Amino acid sequence: MAHWLRTLLPEPVAESLRAWRADRRDARDWRAYRAAPVTPPPHAVKARAVIEHGRRFGLDMLIETGTYEGEMARKASAHFRRVVTIELDPGLARAAERRLARLGNVEVLCGDSARVLPQVLAALREPALFWLDGHFSGVGTARGDTDTPLAAELEAIARHPVAGHVVLIDDARLLGTGEYPSLEAIHRIAGAWRPDGAIEVADDSLRLTPAAPAHAAAGAMQAVGAGA
Ligand SMILES: C[S@@+](CC[C@H](N)C(=O)[O-])C[C@H]1O[C@@H](n2cnc3c(N)ncnc32)[C@H](O)[C@@H]1O
Repeated sequence: MAHWLRTLLPEPVAESLRAWRADRRDARDWRAYRAAPVTPPPHAVKARAVIEHGRRFGLDMLIETGTYEGEMARKASAHFRRVVTIELDPGLARAAERRLARLGNVEVLCGDSARVLPQVLAALREPALFWLDGHFSGVGTARGDTDTPLAAELEAIARHPVAGHVVLIDDARLLGTGEYPSLEAIHRIAGAWRPDGAIEVADDSLRLTPAAPAHAAAGAMQAVGAGA
């Protein structure tokens, strides 16, 4: 929707229209991806992976790093009891907070997830699904001390005493490039944390789950052999 048109409409109406258009685009993108997968996949594929992992592992709580415009939080809010999302850029965090407030179960926290995630974990008493997606993504997005706080985030989750967390890391293709930890480094952290856990790469996301579902075993073996 054109920006000028959005400013003329009452905010709830503009937001409903925006969500409706995004959901229609998702349905189109999902069908196109099924017919011809591309890397990186469209947002619809990522949102589906998040929602399906929550359902499959019975998780009620989603913790996201990197809010951006709040699309993942919006799409996930109907499928989780509570969504916490962390954004470093104060302008993006404020806009997302405004946008998501009406949903009632989404909390936007502003700060570097390398520091904020450990605070969220300190208060967490239940297994959660983590969508780790807080990284520098070019103009209009924030950069913390490094392009990606992924290693610090994973180490914080691995230290947490509650069992049963599921971790999805977006943009698996970037692992081992620039400041991103390598796949081997992720394996080291994940192996020390949960030796019997499964690691799978699919649709450009790396998934750390408590135990290998039968269909994921082949993916896990591929991931181990692939290196990065
Ligand atoms: C790829 S976008 C996130 C997209 C969002 N997760 C989704 O699925 O709709 C990455 C976001 O991470 C934010 N970011 C960058 N470094 C961060 C950090 N250290 N802590 C928290 N957020 C960060 C950027 O400002 C950007 O908004």
